[in-house]
Amino acid sequence: MKNNILCFLGLSIIGIVSGDSCSLEISPSRVVVKFGDPVSVSCVASRPVRVLGWESVIAATHTQRDLSVQWQVDSLTDWIEEPICYGVFFTAPRQCEEKLNLVLYKKPDSVSISLVNHSSPVVVGREYQLQCEVHNVAPVQYLVLRWYRGQTEVYNHSFSELSPATPVQVSSILLIVPNRADDGAQYSCEAELKLGAEGPQPSPTVQSEVLNLAVQYPPDFRSPEEEIVDISEDSGMVLDCTAEGNPPPVYIWTSSNLQEKADQPVLTAASLGPGVYTCTASNILGKKSKQFVIKHKSKGESNKDAMEM
Ligand SMILES: *[C@@H]1O[C@H](CO)[C@@H](O)[C@H](O)[C@H]1NC(C)=O
Ligand SMILES: *[C@@H]1O[C@H](CO)[C@@H](O)[C@H](O)[C@H]1NC(C)=O
Repeated sequence: MKNNILCFLGLSIIGIVSGDSCSLEISPSRVVVKFGDPVSVSCVASRPVRVLGWESVIAATHTQRDLSVQWQVDSLTDWIEEPICYGVFFTAPRQCEEKLNLVLYKKPDSVSISLVNHSSPVVVGREYQLQCEVHNVAPVQYLVLRWYRGQTEVYNHSFSELSPATPVQVSSILLIVPNRADDGAQYSCEAELKLGAEGPQPSPTVQSEVLNLAVQYPPDFRSPEEEIVDISEDSGMVLDCTAEGNPPPVYIWTSSNLQEKADQPVLTAASLGPGVYTCTASNILGKKSKQFVIKHKSKGESNKDAMEM
């Protein structure tokens, strides 16, 4: 021990020392404080001091007797506070200091989600921007913003490159090109302050409201192939032209056999004569057609059916 100290003195250090060679220890070495909360940190010297104190805008203090001094604030509201513990010693190094690792944080007032320059419904296949805005959060470098589609995280955004200690507003943009499956999708975002082990557990988190996306898309048949229907087989047979689309499609049937205008999605085959029927489903985004062919069964088979009955 003695040898170590002698060696140390031989270096004749000039200026203020910090780090391992500084005989000061701050405890706890890192504090995470919620805006407006109390805080108390001690600084302890491990060799005799002339003066031991805290340099601080709001709570400067010092002692000439003790080997320990407390930095204490009842309600911390000063964003630029950077307390430093300093010691003035009888022996070299004669001065040294340690900076307190202090994080003053504030949960966002709100987190909002919106479609940039647009409102739902949107159109399938085009590009849109979803924006998430985080209002009044500090310090932003600890913020992680997560995007969700339903319960699934689709993207996250960190702000570690930013440095302000004071509350700021930040935003994140998510580019989407909606498809049909996005109709009814629920997007949301979440702001989490990841303040580390010294911070509150779980991390302070604020969620946005949910943005319900409505997507418009042209009509589409589940099975677009032509259907051949044999009417004498089962009098309950129908021609089903139902298509999916948003807005809901309107229907029109055309056939040389149809006397009246038909605009319902389903026709009963029994009421129709043999022939080709074309159904067209349309909405503001497009139209699709599907063909149905009605055939009669041969006479022989019909007779057989009749005899069994
Ligand atoms: C949104 O609209 C504003 C003003 O109408 C315009 O300045 C801005 O460029 C638009 N943003 C996008 C992403 O289209
Ligand atoms: C952000 O997303 C990536 C994958 O895209 C993931 O590996 C990472 O853990 C996420 N970061 C956070 C902080 O959740």
